[in-house]
Amino acid sequence: EQIEKGGYEHFMLKEIFEQPKSIHDTMRGRLLVDEGVIKMAGIWDHVERFKNANRIIIIACGTSWHAGLIGEYLIEEYARIPVEVEYASEFRYRNPIITDKDVVIAISQSGETADTMAALKLAKEKGAFIYGICNVVDSSIARITDAGSYTHAGPEIGVASTKAFTAQLTILTLIAFKLGKHNGNLGNAEFMSLIAELDAIPKRIEEVLNATHEQVQEIAKDFVETTNFLYLGRGYNYPAALEGALKLKEISYIHAEGYPAAEMKHGPIALIDENMPIVIIAPKKGHYDKIVSNVQEIKARKGKIIAVVNKGDRQVSEMSDYVIEIPETSECFSPIVASVPLQLLAYYIAVYRGANVDQPRNLAKSVTVE
Ligand code: AGP
Repeated sequence: EQIEKGGYEHFMLKEIFEQPKSIHDTMRGRLLVDEGVIKMAGIWDHVERFKNANRIIIIACGTSWHAGLIGEYLIEEYARIPVEVEYASEFRYRNPIITDKDVVIAISQSGETADTMAALKLAKEKGAFIYGICNVVDSSIARITDAGSYTHAGPEIGVASTKAFTAQLTILTLIAFKLGKHNGNLGNAEFMSLIAELDAIPKRIEEVLNATHEQVQEIAKDFVETTNFLYLGRGYNYPAALEGALKLKEISYIHAEGYPAAEMKHGPIALIDENMPIVIIAPKKGHYDKIVSNVQEIKARKGKIIAVVNKGDRQVSEMSDYVIEIPETSECFSPIVASVPLQLLAYYIAVYRGANVDQPRNLAKSVTVE
């Protein structure tokens, strides 16, 4: 096992650090920047089905559902196809309206999640076209889909999903750009610039790991005794906030809630006092001015602010107690980049609390029961 951990103390840390490589592997053979092409046979062979779909329904659980939410932003923005994102367990039990004009995308790291599998079977019976995004090759979900893309992130051992999540985001980005180009919604110049930026994401992740690893480790020490956390983000980073909160609660057993930042004033603001740490994802591109006012509201109530900002940020940083810098990217890539320090934060808080990081209590790597 020590050999498999490659010198890291836990699989989770190894998997966090593997992300430059795993994201690269997800794109390998698919993203051909010099030729200006995204090659994905699963999409290309059925491209008219996607193009003519009434809507795309994304079905998943847990972290994969968070990836699906970001997929909704991506596909709607770039391909202009309506997207709905459903918890598999809710979808399957509510007699959903599905037709043969719908495309259903299932996202599952393990490819064995019982609720996702059952929801897919239901959609298939109703004639929808089923597309799978799985990490485990030849898994049950991969086998029943009509087409799909493997994430190729490599085996994920830590129960808390890290590299599988960023690989799912990478696939969803490729799908959105490919469909957008085909639909004519994404012009050539923008397409070329976005794919060049995507190609460089592994490099950006490496920079983030190097720049933030030790700093986040230090920050974590201050929150070992904390009992509650709020995670806030807007737009693409709202699901990233949900995912950050899920990571923390899964492995550290600290109660954490993710929220769209603007929803704070509709309830969670009542929780804010000097004992409430708030992680806020505040990149320059993506409603920055609005985030600034959210931070002011938190500051006025003495909340402890841990801000994830772009390098060189001033406004949010000046009001924050802790500042974690990530490189500036187009908005659609910011959840991939911002997720990395949040994974590290959850990891180190859990380690300092003496928790079993790779095998948290009550959780299984794949949930094969309903
Ligand atoms: C992630 O950290 C969790 N352990 C969990 O939410 C997981 O994402 C969920 O059970 C779905 O699993 P799947 O991707 O294998 O379908």
